Amino acid sequence: MKVPHLILELCLLTFSFTQISAAPRAEPIQPIKRPSKVNAKEVELGKKLFFEPRLSKSAFISCNSCHNLATGGADNLKSSIGHGWQLGPINSPTVYNSSYNLAQFWDGRAKDLFEQAGGPIANPGEMAFTHKLAVKTLNSIPEYQKEFKTVYGVKTIKIKNVQKAIAAFEETLVTPNSRFDKWLNGNDKALTANELTGYENFKKFGCIGCHNGPAVGGTSYQKFGLVHPYTKDTKTMGRFAVTKNPADKYLFKVPTLRNIELTAPYFHDGDTWDLDEAVRLMAWHQLGLKPNEKEVKSIVAFLKTLTGELPKITYPILPPSTASTPKPDTSFKR
Ligand code: HEC
Ligand code: HEC
Repeated sequence: MKVPHLILELCLLTFSFTQISAAPRAEPIQPIKRPSKVNAKEVELGKKLFFEPRLSKSAFISCNSCHNLATGGADNLKSSIGHGWQLGPINSPTVYNSSYNLAQFWDGRAKDLFEQAGGPIANPGEMAFTHKLAVKTLNSIPEYQKEFKTVYGVKTIKIKNVQKAIAAFEETLVTPNSRFDKWLNGNDKALTANELTGYENFKKFGCIGCHNGPAVGGTSYQKFGLVHPYTKDTKTMGRFAVTKNPADKYLFKVPTLRNIELTAPYFHDGDTWDLDEAVRLMAWHQLGLKPNEKEVKSIVAFLKTLTGELPKITYPILPPSTASTPKPDTSFKR
């Protein structure tokens, strides 16, 4: 009678061991996961559109101009350059891991990636085109017609198909297997002692209260200047622009800190190029703290462990224009 009992216990033991090693550590940050279901043809089409400059008035600016996938999914400028070399009002956030955001844009005015993707094409300060001309362009190109037909079964390409394909591509722009995720998944050797201290400080000081979840951000709107007001940019109102509720002034979507070392300058106004300085500013404005140099350095060392495996992107070859494709229009009234 005793033997089967022992076997049962052994089974349970092995079972619980596998459970432990398979489940990530119970932390307020979770590992980044690749999307489970993808439609490869839709993603490939979305990729073409992401790199498609003919979706802009000048036929020169694509999503990738401001969300360069080679430079952390952002443009590394204080604020973006759009049609006619116009300087935009705000820093471009990374598109990597953007599928984890509770909503899109600094003020969350687009509810998801699908809704967001329609914005820049028709934004006069960005791609400066119209949705009508964008679909006219795509419908003038037989290869696009064929691809949209295969993926969505449509004869005439509509803007919603364009948005859907771009969003599907963006869903794949995730960056798993960072050193921090390896540690989360149970590899004790993945982080150095200093990096681990940095993570402990990140939690102890309270950064984690806002920067949490798989993207280490993107889960809430928070006031920039919660403890000590941020006075360098008081024009950009954040969430208030959407809700008109005075309590929402200077609330911004908490940005992801994944791959943060690749996406300087920091903050919605691109105020600083220096990650150490960004950490000091956060500690002061959000928490009323003045961490010492060692503490700052440890947090920065931790933040650098959040750089993951960026997806390998094969540069797409775009189909040729035809006689009926609208011509580039580089005119711009100053
Ligand atoms: C001229 C530069 C420019 C172009 C072109 C551009 N974007 Fe953006 N993008 C920005 C800026 C700036 C923001 C932030 C705007 C804001 O929050 O008000 C942004 C925000 C976003 C966001 C939200 C990310 C987040 O964390 O909130 C996504 C997603 C995005 N863009 C995808 C795209 C796609 C897809 C295209 C092409 C259809 C595109 N962008 C074209 C500059 C650009
Ligand atoms: C009360 C919420 C809150 C706390 C606490 C907080 N942050 Fe932030 N963090 C934000 C918000 C909101 C922004 C965006 C501010 C802006 O640019 O408008 C941000 C931006 C950042 C950025 C710049 C990201 C980018 O892409 O531009 C870094 C880096 C950062 N935080 C690190 C930290 C660190 C380190 C701590 C702890 C010392 C911390 N944060 C504490 C809410 C918070």
